[in-house]
Amino acid sequence: MKLTIIGTGYVGLVTGTCFAEVGHHVICVDNNAEKVAMLKAGGIPIYEPGLEELVQKNVAEGRLSFTASTAEGVEKSDIIFIAVPTPPQADGSVDLSFIEGVAREIAGAMTSYKIIVDKSTVPVKTGEKVAETIKRYCKAKVEFDVVSNPEFLREGFAVQDLMKPDRVVVGERSQRPVPAMKQVYEPFKAPIIVTDINSAELIKHAANSFLALKISYINAVSIICEASGANVQEVANGMGMDARIGRQFLDASLGFGGSCFPKDLSAFIKISDQLGYNFALLKEVQRINSFQMERFVKKISDTLWVLKDKKIGVLGLAFKQNTDDVRTSPAIDLCQRLQKEGAILRVHDPKAMEKARALLQGVTYVADMNEVAQGCDALVIATEWPVFKKLDLDRARKDLTHPIIFDGRNLFDPAEMERLGFIYKSIGR
Ligand code: UDX
Repeated sequence: MKLTIIGTGYVGLVTGTCFAEVGHHVICVDNNAEKVAMLKAGGIPIYEPGLEELVQKNVAEGRLSFTASTAEGVEKSDIIFIAVPTPPQADGSVDLSFIEGVAREIAGAMTSYKIIVDKSTVPVKTGEKVAETIKRYCKAKVEFDVVSNPEFLREGFAVQDLMKPDRVVVGERSQRPVPAMKQVYEPFKAPIIVTDINSAELIKHAANSFLALKISYINAVSIICEASGANVQEVANGMGMDARIGRQFLDASLGFGGSCFPKDLSAFIKISDQLGYNFALLKEVQRINSFQMERFVKKISDTLWVLKDKKIGVLGLAFKQNTDDVRTSPAIDLCQRLQKEGAILRVHDPKAMEKARALLQGVTYVADMNEVAQGCDALVIATEWPVFKKLDLDRARKDLTHPIIFDGRNLFDPAEMERLGFIYKSIGR
């Protein structure tokens, strides 16, 4: 099939590449000419395992191309996917101006029937607005259908999530686009749920908010574990074996972050308010998430007492493992809080140091994770990178002026760490 994807961010670039990988002909459009030039030259602007090779392969095999022209993408394809950013605004609502702008551009370029598919995460009822906008700005009176097709990929696992989705959600208001949408997704062999547009949009916000709720739930349980001497990992394992609950997203941590959960929670709360419901449960999810970070900082300051002029090593800057994304990263938030208290930081991340530099200044960036602890009063683990489990602990113990580790991701076994001579403080254990 001939497909166009507008927007080459995480969702757009991975979606376009995976569509090409299964045999579709894909044009990726981005209004950033520099980005298009980079992609054409075989580079990719983000770190995502497996993506670069897949982009290069599909470009070489002639199924994937890039352009800065929306008109070209609209003209050459029957299905246009919108995958542009929907950033948060100060009041928690979503800035839909990119979606609206792209809808107008598409409308202006349409000369025959098109299916316009929204992949970006948007509040319920956005599809209705997109359809109205296209109708208003379409010069030639051509027919079109608007479809909602939310994306559920996780950064760091984006290619695998896209190639093997749990489900594909297709929201539509006439049956006409359904066969084509099924044909797009046929190679992925996943269950396809066909529903109305509003339900499809809600599925995305409801799913992400539920996952965030799951994390806040276990983080709240971690407080009770600390107060009672229980172990949150044992509790999560026991809970997770109930198939109705499941073990995933029950890892207690210093809080969730990233470009999705915090934003989608705020947006869901906001749209619920606008629709007349005070979603207090989700406000509590946000509150627990902030409290978890405050508790972690307090744990550090309770142990080290005065943080001013203390040297602290920090492992991890990305908002989670397997990514160089530092947007709304709990690790960066933590570093900034420690800096505010006057701590002097030595930091390391396997992939995110370059992007972190823009947000985090006045720290020493250390290339080797095993050198971070040198001369520090304590070491902090802020991101769940699996490679941190291979830290040279003997060396860390000797390098630290005091063998203290604060683990915001529960990577090590507390009993083992104590046996090795560390004062080891983690979450909910
Ligand atoms: C999320 C959703 O999982 C995905 O379906 C959606 O499309 C986009 O939002 P993402 O933001 O890439 O994906 O990351 P995810 O793996 O969900 O992690 C989000 C945050 O929660 C990270 O900061 C992570 O460290 C944290 N987390 C996750 C926990 O603290 N504990 C857990 O058990 C799981």
